[in-house]
Amino acid sequence: MPLVTMRQLLDEAARGGYGVGAFNVNNLEQVQAIMEAARETGSPVIIQASRGARKYANDRFLYHLMEAATEVYPEIPVALHQDHGNSPETCESAIELGFTSVMMDGSLMEDAKTPADFEYNVRVTREVVEMAHERGVTVEGELGTLGGIEDDVGSGEVHLTEPDQAVEFVERTGVDALAVAIGTSHGAYKFTKEPDREVLAMHIIEEINRRLPTTHLVMHGSSSVPRELVDLINRYGGEIRPTWGVPVREIQEGIKYGVRKINVDTDLRLAATGAIRRAFAEDPSEYDPRYYLTPAREAMKGIVKARMEEFGQAGHAGNYEPISLGDMAVRYREKGHLLTTT
Ligand code: G3H
Ligand code: 13P
Ligand code: ZN
Repeated sequence: MPLVTMRQLLDEAARGGYGVGAFNVNNLEQVQAIMEAARETGSPVIIQASRGARKYANDRFLYHLMEAATEVYPEIPVALHQDHGNSPETCESAIELGFTSVMMDGSLMEDAKTPADFEYNVRVTREVVEMAHERGVTVEGELGTLGGIEDDVGSGEVHLTEPDQAVEFVERTGVDALAVAIGTSHGAYKFTKEPDREVLAMHIIEEINRRLPTTHLVMHGSSSVPRELVDLINRYGGEIRPTWGVPVREIQEGIKYGVRKINVDTDLRLAATGAIRRAFAEDPSEYDPRYYLTPAREAMKGIVKARMEEFGQAGHAGNYEPISLGDMAVRYREKGHLLTTT
């Protein structure tokens, strides 16, 4: 089937009471790992590309990789999403390329580092909503900022999302999905001890969900940083410091309160790095990239399959027929930006 919109995937997830993993890709092996995991678990899935990924892979290569994915896995509903768009121009170029969903991250200025004020965020996000919905494309906004300053995304300052502002933001922008800041950060170094309810502000999710029951909530920085992956990397010469990620049970708790999209990138990076380090160590005479990329792809597939089961999306791939971008555009035009989701 053609790429589907993220809005449709999330509406279905809301109906079914499950979450959908949004996994980042930069290359062939990641796309294959995610699609194979989706097939083996029968899952709908969101594949997302950051600005860095688009630059690394080249827009045209990325687009054709995704086209191949829909061709080889026709039974899997897959949305292609721009992760952390830093400006309306970035979002527009993604839409022109064929993305079916975009994130306008107006919580930060265009440099993707400086925290932006609320009015700026509303203005740029609304602009993207107008432009994207006209073409049936889904929009995710972000309110509040994550901690950490990895991967060129993030200010290093944490501003948790305020529920009052979340209501105003959604009403004024018309976003389909809202990323909330509850104390997570991007990358492997999120917490120095296992996060408890004080560190991870799950009550914010509950409160926002109570006030905005039909808005799809998004958790960024949701890698769990499994101990065994860190240990594997370190056993074979890596130097990952002791660290904790977001426990899966907390994500599952969030799913009960309206979290529908869960962003995971770091766990795949860790899985690939561990497998490659082990392959290098086990046979230093090997020089065929397929020797180490095959186990890397398998390891990424393994972690994606586990998350698909844990988030509850497994088994839901066959539940629905795709709604075309044209039909989505008509719905937005007739019903307004904030469609009723359930
Ligand atoms: O937002 C962070 C994602 O993990 C993407 O990271 O900008 O290094 O591609 P990236
Ligand atoms: P992780 O670094 O926790 O995988 O988060 C990824 C993310 O939020 C991408 O937008
Ligand atoms: Zn993110």
